[in-house]
Amino acid sequence: PTIFVLNGPNLNMLGKREPGIYGGQTLADIEAMCVAEGEKLGLTIDFRQTNHEGVLVDWFHEASDTAVGIAVNAGAYTHTSVALHDATRAIGIPVVELHLSNVHAREEFRHKSMLAPAAKGVICGFGAQSYILALNALNTLLQTPK
Ligand code: DQA
Repeated sequence: PTIFVLNGPNLNMLGKREPGIYGGQTLADIEAMCVAEGEKLGLTIDFRQTNHEGVLVDWFHEASDTAVGIAVNAGAYTHTSVALHDATRAIGIPVVELHLSNVHAREEFRHKSMLAPAAKGVICGFGAQSYILALNALNTLLQTPK
């Protein structure tokens, strides 16, 4: 089974981008952690990043045909994207929203998520470990009888 781990805008800048908030790890480091965790859990990780909202929408649709779940760090689109809210509702596989930083401890405009009401749940504030927690959350969901 495959899990899509999707990353939105500016996450390609990790490592250089506000390391005090987002940590020193690069997105490639986080991808390696996710792939290793996937191996433990018996899940294939398809890890991607884009700066474009519509590409994320396309990937949600693609995942609904080929994957069993999505872990998504939608970056700033989290706070603005009706399209990602609708895409989450349109597909039949679980979506877990995740963030490196604790968005609730930051600016007011980060407190609102357009995605969260449509997602299964949200993990934020644990740095790169948020990705690992999101994979484990999806794994638990997938193992739980409906
Ligand atoms: C983020 C939090 C968002 O508010 C921000 O726009 C990001 C990164 C995080 O992982 O902490 O780009 O999603």
